[in-house]
Amino acid sequence: MNVLVVGGAGYIGSHMCKRLAEAGHHVVVLDNLSTGHRSAVQWGELVEASLGDGGAVAQTLRQHRIEVVMHFAASSLVGESMTDPYRYYANNVSATLSLLQAMHDNGVSQFVFSSTAAVFGEPETALIDEQHPCRPINPYGNSKLAVELMLDDAARAYGLRATALRYFNAAGACDSRLIGEKHEPETHLIPRLLRRAAGEALDVKVFGTDYATRDGTCVRDYVHVCDLADAHLLALEYSHVQPGFHRFNLGNGDGYTVLEVLRAAEDVVGRSLDIPHGPRRAGDPAMLVASSDKARKVLGWRPRRADIRQIVEDAWAWHQQPAY
Ligand code: UFG
Repeated sequence: MNVLVVGGAGYIGSHMCKRLAEAGHHVVVLDNLSTGHRSAVQWGELVEASLGDGGAVAQTLRQHRIEVVMHFAASSLVGESMTDPYRYYANNVSATLSLLQAMHDNGVSQFVFSSTAAVFGEPETALIDEQHPCRPINPYGNSKLAVELMLDDAARAYGLRATALRYFNAAGACDSRLIGEKHEPETHLIPRLLRRAAGEALDVKVFGTDYATRDGTCVRDYVHVCDLADAHLLALEYSHVQPGFHRFNLGNGDGYTVLEVLRAAEDVVGRSLDIPHGPRRAGDPAMLVASSDKARKVLGWRPRRADIRQIVEDAWAWHQQPAY
């Protein structure tokens, strides 16, 4: 199929492009390079444009006879969303609406959307499945949930075939070492620990040691970026034959505490990282772990790189590349 990957120069989007190309699809990337990297576009032509540029989007859909759009481009910093919510509604909701309208006008009827665990808000159960109530606690989560609601309506009204994939904590890098995670600023735990290990002067702390968890630090469900890419490919195949709007939670169903991740990082880099303990970061739930039973049953998804040590090893190999 001809697939447009919006945000294909970013972390998860670039891994998706690689996976799509391996599966024999024709990939075109649309990215404004505001946070993505030109060097990450290795599996398909880059159209350098913003979603706000309706003319460029429509022209790309027509010129490349796009059949499916996968949408990864978004603002995704929870803290920033609290202080600048308009940015999140503009970049995540309004820009996505323009994209969907352009697809509709040009007869493109399949859409795969990057959503997030942030749509759930404070967890009410130990494992979060698709039935869990969606009550986001920040504008980032609200903006992603707004798009999910839009997709549900569009599926009913226009027959859009849409899938929202809610990632828990995406991490790791592909074993080709060609692409990986590179955010500026970096807020995520694993790359922060590894950048610190690589000698960057980052002030990394364990955010809170008094949570009601097995060692007092937050539990998260880290899922390998290549496993996420596999799930997208399965979702693409599934929604090709199953009309409507589908939602899947993507995680390993198993969580690691911040201290367990720190120990894995120290094991992988072979020395102590000397990370001090600090106060809680505002807005962090104690535990976020997915039930991905639905993705396993319905899509046949089998995460193959669930071990935290492997996730950290792959991320570390990327951080040591000259390309990084
Ligand atoms: N953490 C630290 N020190 C750091 C960075 C993070 O202790 O320097 C801790 C956090 O407090 C948290 C855990 O490591 O307990 C993971 O934090 P990340 O920032 O890596 O990821 P989050 O769990 O905050 O973010 C994830 C997704 C977001 C989503 C959010 C919902 O990446 O997209 O969950 O809460 F919005």
